[in-house]
Amino acid sequence: MYNEIDLDRMDPSLDPPAEEPERQYYFMARCREWVLAFQQDHGRPPRACIQTFGCQMNARDSEKLLGILSQTGFEETDREEADLVLYNTCTVRDNANQKVYGRLGRLSVLKRKNPHMIIALCGCMMQERQAVEKIRKSYPFVDIIFGTHNIFKLAELLYDRLCRQQMVVDIWDGTKAVVEELPTQRKFPFKSGVNIMFGCNNFCSYCIVPYVRGRERSREPEEILAEIRRLVADGVVEVMLLGQNVNSYGKNLARPMTFAQLLRQVNEIPGLARIRFMTSHPKDLSVDLIEAMKDCQKVCRHLHLPIQSGSSRILEQMNRRYTKEGYLALVDRIRQAMPDISLTTDIIVGFPGETEEDFQETLDVVRRVRYDSAFTFLYSKRTGTPAAAMAAQVPEDVAKDRFDRLLALVQQTAGQVCGRDTGTVGKVLVECPDDHQDGYVTGRLSNNTTVHFPGTVELVGKLVDVYLEESRGFYYMGRLVKEP
Ligand code: SAH
Ligand code: SF4
Ligand code: F3S
Repeated sequence: MYNEIDLDRMDPSLDPPAEEPERQYYFMARCREWVLAFQQDHGRPPRACIQTFGCQMNARDSEKLLGILSQTGFEETDREEADLVLYNTCTVRDNANQKVYGRLGRLSVLKRKNPHMIIALCGCMMQERQAVEKIRKSYPFVDIIFGTHNIFKLAELLYDRLCRQQMVVDIWDGTKAVVEELPTQRKFPFKSGVNIMFGCNNFCSYCIVPYVRGRERSREPEEILAEIRRLVADGVVEVMLLGQNVNSYGKNLARPMTFAQLLRQVNEIPGLARIRFMTSHPKDLSVDLIEAMKDCQKVCRHLHLPIQSGSSRILEQMNRRYTKEGYLALVDRIRQAMPDISLTTDIIVGFPGETEEDFQETLDVVRRVRYDSAFTFLYSKRTGTPAAAMAAQVPEDVAKDRFDRLLALVQQTAGQVCGRDTGTVGKVLVECPDDHQDGYVTGRLSNNTTVHFPGTVELVGKLVDVYLEESRGFYYMGRLVKEP
């Protein structure tokens, strides 16, 4: 954990302070009293299980939530037979919501066996009024519900729930504040996400994120740099700068700056080895950023550049504000500057009004760009977004058929490009022991491709030279050239 807080300096006999983050330190201290009493009764600390759905933003939020719980004395577990179960939800597509309802059904069975179990829900799905109503009515055994804007309040909400026997619901419509200086418990010791901004102002017509994550807010560059320095001091060698559209970073700061400028400053931090970022909106990707990526040694040779559709007509309906030709020209510029870069993307199939011709344009882009990989999604109607009200929703069977054809093409082209570095030596950041083979470890190249090679757990977190012996489609088998 970094940013550990000295809770002993908080006096629980006083009233809670009004200012943040002091107020949360106070409630962490109050929760810790409960944790200690629990420990005395049960001979063990209470166990907390956090389940994360959705994107990297949620993953990072969960590290903050776990940081708060660990600071108060909870023990982490990945089993849902726990004393506190927290679902950090996603609502980007309907199947994400359905998953949560299904799992809540199973949790109710566990709660019947352990009536003291606390069930908490937070994240994007909780920012939707209908979802919260449904949970209140159909899942009354849920104890705490909060949203995306107030995750820093977990200790306060938990304390509230411990004091009174009823559901605690606290959802904010938005916030201007960014509460800093809370504890964080990272999943990986050697790499970390770092929020550089929150929210989204782009309102792509299919997307619910701007409604559930609120308006775009950038963090101050000094806060970001200080956080990364602290992470590096704590053993981190790779950071992933996170935002829904990192290319619009800094526009609304009191002293505006660009993402390209931020990247150059992060690149200067001693001890940091790798910088990744996500996500780049093509409409805002500047020549300055391409230059900065090219100049900065630590910036990885990978760019995730969601296209969504290859049809300019559909892109306009999606409110993406670029055309197929504009996107392809951008890809050319990026590849000219960095010929070895790997490109990945997101694609939606079956957007309202999408014809076979539109879909053929999407296939055409995949053939031309030759992505290293692509996340492909069936369009999912999200209530409240402009696209949900559009006529001509594509029938399910037609969309499914297009989805299958797209996936086949993506796999075919990716299979051809992914092995392009076979027979060379690459720098690999070792992430974990290999899941499938004893005596092997797994890591990633700068361009994000996975490599498996013989090695021991001591290599985890280290950057090593690996000879890329054989490409197996989407990953390499290699062998260690030099110990670090
Ligand atoms: N901010 C990022 C994406 C965040 S959501 C960006 O602009 O690229 C991640 C992906 O989910 C999107 O890129 C899109 O491909 C997909 N997505 C979003 N809303 C969707 C919907 N209603 N149906 C299907 N896929 C969707
Ligand atoms: Fe959604 Fe578009 Fe914002 Fe991405 S940029 S989060 S797709 S609205
Ligand atoms: Fe899902 Fe929220 Fe991320 S809706 S994709 S978890 S921003």
